[in-house]
Amino acid sequence: MGKIIAVHSYKGGTGKTLLSVNLAATFAKLGKKVCLFDLDFRAPSLFAILKINSTENWFNDYLNNSWDINKVLVDVSDKVPGKGKLLVGLANPATEAIRDMSAKDRKWEMRALGRLLHLRNALIADKQIDYIVFDTSPGLQYSSINAIVAADLVAVTTTGDRSDVDGTSRMLKELYGLFEKKTGIVLNKVLDFNTEDRRKELYDRINNIYKVPLLGIVPCFCDILRAQGNLIFAQDKPDHPFSTLLTEMAKKIDGNELN
Ligand SMILES: Nc1ncnc2c1ncn2[C@@H]1O[C@H](COP(=O)(O)OP(=O)(O)OP(=O)(O)O)[C@@H](O)[C@H]1O
Ligand SMILES: [Mg+2]
Repeated sequence: MGKIIAVHSYKGGTGKTLLSVNLAATFAKLGKKVCLFDLDFRAPSLFAILKINSTENWFNDYLNNSWDINKVLVDVSDKVPGKGKLLVGLANPATEAIRDMSAKDRKWEMRALGRLLHLRNALIADKQIDYIVFDTSPGLQYSSINAIVAADLVAVTTTGDRSDVDGTSRMLKELYGLFEKKTGIVLNKVLDFNTEDRRKELYDRINNIYKVPLLGIVPCFCDILRAQGNLIFAQDKPDHPFSTLLTEMAKKIDGNELN
């Protein structure tokens, strides 16, 4: 049975979009059928990363008008190697659309949650999709809370930043804990991750602070910065250590090893 994964964080810039795109691509590379959605309506970015210049139907339209989700999905399977499938639903980057989405009221958001929950039927049950990945906005944006409510697993990206650690701890207790969501931490942009002692220190520290399973530790890679948001590592650099880490994370999730 398919799973919904929401990639979320307390602070901005912790690597949610990087992880969403590359985890979705890695699942597809492993032969899975994957749908990736941009739920960061405040700063849409998947259209740019996946170099999709235009689409008639945005994910916004699905949430606004209760459209058929199949009208929104763009097939980008050619961007990943292997026999898997990668379909994406894009957030509309037009200024007008961003303003429109930020002005939605509670009632609209409740309906939007219904539409998100419906994806489980429309995609997992009807189309045998293996994974749905939501890239979200940081913090307590309504759209992110909806994504968390709809998810089976929340992958929380965090850095070593003091303010981030504090906020993430609070969210773990008061948000994911409240909804009783299965959660996995991804510690990102880690420096000096090259000795066994340092690795052990980080694992212990994360266990002590967050008390939830660790999905992975990702070093700060200059190659990621150098790519300026252009690389789908699973495709473009399959032998890169980041690709290896992503494969490990994908297998951990697929094997239900996050308990
Ligand atoms: N492990 C890493 N090594 C080097 N650079 C990284 C790493 N992870 C993320 N980055 C860079 O950090 C920046 C922010 O990453 P990204 O856009 O994925 O974060 P985000 O959480 O989606 O941000 P936002 O909250 O604004 O949506 C990007 O320039 C990305 O390339
Ligand atoms: Mg992002």
